[in-house]
Amino acid sequence: MKSDDILTVAGLNVSYGESKVLFNINLNASSGQIVACVGRNGAGKTTLLKTIMGFLKPTAGTVTSNGTSLIGRAAYVVAAMGVKYIPQDKKVFSDLTVRENLELGSYATRDYDWDKVTTYFPKLKQLMDRKAGYLSGGERQMLMIGRAILGNPKLLLVDEPTEGLAPSIVAQLKDVFRELSSKSTLVIVEQNLPLVCAIADKVYALNEGHVMAELADREQIKPETCEQYL
Ligand SMILES: Nc1ncnc2c1ncn2[C@@H]1O[C@H](COP(=O)(O)OP(=O)(O)OP(=O)(O)O)[C@@H](O)[C@H]1O
Ligand SMILES: [Mg+2]
Repeated sequence: MKSDDILTVAGLNVSYGESKVLFNINLNASSGQIVACVGRNGAGKTTLLKTIMGFLKPTAGTVTSNGTSLIGRAAYVVAAMGVKYIPQDKKVFSDLTVRENLELGSYATRDYDWDKVTTYFPKLKQLMDRKAGYLSGGERQMLMIGRAILGNPKLLLVDEPTEGLAPSIVAQLKDVFRELSSKSTLVIVEQNLPLVCAIADKVYALNEGHVMAELADREQIKPETCEQYL
């Protein structure tokens, strides 16, 4: 394990009761990398992110960040260590406005620098007084990412950010992820292989809870190569 590894997952096994879902997962992400995890529905991608974040307890294996173990810590403690999770379900506080949603992020992190949020997502400026429940899927994803980058996390875990979004928003998010990677390490779960291959430094292909391939070579990071492991 290198100390500049923002995330190291080793020998990770996770079960829901009797049902084993992740088998001996090894994954690592170094500073400033975009690491993608691809796999079909039910492969275990969300389970992996939730386990890293501390929502699920593995039956075996280790998760460390800069040499510190994350296992056994509550998710809010992991968050305070600079690890943020953007869940797949795009849940925001629907009855609160965009501004109030961001205020919660600021309250939690003591980071009130919203300029970086509106620089990435200028559209949020016009939506500040809108209740988050009325946002489109794309706007909601902007809010979720915007809230997550408050506090300048060292590691962002992003679960299927482009699922169901229009191509124009996907293209915008692609640029945002590239820019974010200059400040944070990103682990992105995605099924959009062209997007993944456009931005990832490394791709893990997950199938039925097993890592089938680790592609770290730009030459290998192509949709057709990823596809053959899924
Ligand atoms: N709370 C749970 N209890 C029991 N089994 C679960 C639970 N959550 C997920 N599973 C099962 O674990 C496996 C992996 O699910 P997971 O949600 O991690 O997959 P995924 O790769 O994120 O899929 P998707 O692309 O559909 O989001 C699936 O077989 C799923 O049915
Ligand atoms: Mg999932």
